[in-house]
Amino acid sequence: MNAENLFRRITGRAPAGVWSAPGRVNLIGEHTDYNEGFVLPFAIPHRTSAAVRMREDGRIRVASTFAAEPVEVGLDELDALFPVTLRRAQGPGEAQGPGEAQGPGEAQGPAVPAWAAYPLGVAWALRHAVDARAGSALPGVDIAISSDVPVGAGLSSSAAIEGAVAVALNELWALRLDPVALARAGRRAENEAVGAPTGIMDQMASMLGRADAATFLDCRTLETRSIPTGFDAEGLEVLVIDTRVTHSHSSGGYRERREACERGAALLGIRSLRDATVDDLPRAAELMDDVTFRRVRHVVTENQRVLDTVAALRTHGPRAIGDLLTASHASMRDDFEISVPELDTAVESALAAGALGARMTGGGFGGAAIALVERDAVERVTDAVAAAFAASGFTAPHQFTVAPSEGPRRDI
Ligand code: GLA
Repeated sequence: MNAENLFRRITGRAPAGVWSAPGRVNLIGEHTDYNEGFVLPFAIPHRTSAAVRMREDGRIRVASTFAAEPVEVGLDELDALFPVTLRRAQGPGEAQGPGEAQGPGEAQGPAVPAWAAYPLGVAWALRHAVDARAGSALPGVDIAISSDVPVGAGLSSSAAIEGAVAVALNELWALRLDPVALARAGRRAENEAVGAPTGIMDQMASMLGRADAATFLDCRTLETRSIPTGFDAEGLEVLVIDTRVTHSHSSGGYRERREACERGAALLGIRSLRDATVDDLPRAAELMDDVTFRRVRHVVTENQRVLDTVAALRTHGPRAIGDLLTASHASMRDDFEISVPELDTAVESALAAGALGARMTGGGFGGAAIALVERDAVERVTDAVAAAFAASGFTAPHQFTVAPSEGPRRDI
């Protein structure tokens, strides 16, 4: 069922409009966003839709095709629900995410079902993004959500929900917030309503998507540059290999990596790992234990690989970035230790079948890998990856190609 039909079923009325926002893959730059570093993601054709209409009574009702029942609260009750970090006092292992909507019935704590925290969290964050008086005067809304972004695959289904709801409410509530402010509201929902300690890459990637271009983002300044990828013109495809290992069970690992990065930065005496370069690594090796050092080395070298990828795309075109992608994977596998056997098999078998480069994408511990592949080799690589998974006894992966795609839009 699509969002519009769900809306009609729940409310008995037509929505005022339907807005949508995309998921993303990250071309390169992993676990650099919360270290104030660089990332180079692009939006994908898979989208989440939000059918929305204002209502008179100051209440907000959210419904989703992947939840049995809608959730309804007063807008003025949102401040009692969020931020969850204060209410629920989560330990490291209890947070959700990173970055994925959960299925129905997985409520974390007493407040609202986990899936509903994304749209309600965005409404809450947007009310706070405008001044207090304006926020308290906003009318209620009904929201129905549907999505074709695979959940749990590391393709930012959560950022797609946040983006679709944010652009819908921005228009209906006449907030006039710019895309960066909407991305910030999405991240705030993720961090403080859902309780996932993620960075801002996914929301920015979804919000600023452009056809045929990746978004180079400086996560310290939030400055962006649209970088043409040239994939289509050069006859290249980005193949997504969704391992179907969902990473929501391993979320403690994401928080642990984040803490290791903060520890490393503190030992180096810098604000964040953004302020370290490869020249600082010998000193870092002396200052910290081996595990912390390897976490630091991943982030520092990954930031450099993002810059190198942007330069390579500009000067030599997309065929020149393959080795950087593969080096990024090795760093995540060996230094950051966020890969899993399925992701390594995806990368190795794609490379062996002729992919120009391949790496896991997203937070890790499952999810998807991407491979840069000549268009006429897509079938060969896909078959080789499927065969390698079968030979290892892994669940068959979902494989599909994605082209860099546009950001949020109003569809109806
Ligand atoms: C998840 C998070 C992002 C980012 C990536 C890793 O997708 O939501 O903020 O940290 O992991 O690069």
